[in-house]
Amino acid sequence: MVKTYIVTGASRGIGLEFVEQIAARGDIVFACVRNPDSSKGLQALIDNKRVFGIQLDATCDKSIKAAAEEISSKASEGVDILINNAGIGGTMGLNVENTSKEEYLKVFETNVTGVSEVLKAFLPILRKRGQENVKKVLNMSSMLGSIADMETGDGLGFGSAYCVSKAALNMLTKMFASQLAKENFIVYSSHPGWVKTELVKHPGGDDAPTEKKDSIAGQLAKLDSLTAQDNGGFFDFNGKPMSW
Ligand SMILES: NC(=O)c1ccc[n+]([C@@H]2O[C@H](COP(=O)([O-])OP(=O)(O)OC[C@H]3O[C@@H](n4cnc5c(N)ncnc54)[C@H](OP(=O)(O)O)[C@@H]3O)[C@@H](O)[C@H]2O)c1
Repeated sequence: MVKTYIVTGASRGIGLEFVEQIAARGDIVFACVRNPDSSKGLQALIDNKRVFGIQLDATCDKSIKAAAEEISSKASEGVDILINNAGIGGTMGLNVENTSKEEYLKVFETNVTGVSEVLKAFLPILRKRGQENVKKVLNMSSMLGSIADMETGDGLGFGSAYCVSKAALNMLTKMFASQLAKENFIVYSSHPGWVKTELVKHPGGDDAPTEKKDSIAGQLAKLDSLTAQDNGGFFDFNGKPMSW
């Protein structure tokens, strides 16, 4: 059966690859991006049948509301899967001693409250699928948000704001998972691997070992095979459980 997805941060990187692979499977995808006209990659995929381009800035309430209304009108029967992928890295190289309050707030606004606001606004669209259908939410986290596996005070160079934001996102995942379990939702955090994208453009970034196509193929396989036991979990792109 054809499934309907929403992907945020679909202009490039991991999000765009999700859109490409979802469309290639013959499923329907609402590709949410800040500036739909400026993503050539996405423009090439939009056909308004399987792939729809939707304007969405995860930090802007007005934009989130308009996106929810547009998707709701186009997907009258609801949406099966929300992939909360939009995220920012913040300033590279900052550690816990020199990260400002402004830096934390900037990164949190996209990576934590952005995800929360988008998920809350899109819940009615997912709920349209009814109690009998499983609704799935993937929150794009990172191994750098794992408290158990934390290595350095600068998050291996990614900055403490990014790591703290992904740890907070993981708690948000757990809390939404608990809240929505009775409504047949599966909400989980995913670590996509260390993938070659603009987010990891820094010295050493070219060494990122994971190709986008493998990361997304693995994450789609996990989405396909999720069971109720996975609700509130944290998995890598191969579906292997991660430490919180
Ligand atoms: N690459 C990795 O190795 C890696 C590892 C762990 C986790 N992740 C996570 O994977 C996700 C995708 O990252 P990526 O590697 O694909 O990075 P990327 O190439 O930098 O893409 C980030 C995407 O997020 C979008 N975005 C940023 N702020 C947004 C906002 N306020 N509203 C809507 N969209 C926004 C960007 O849109 P614009 O084009 O408009 O800027 C872009 O589409 C992120 O959550 C990241 O933390 C990546």
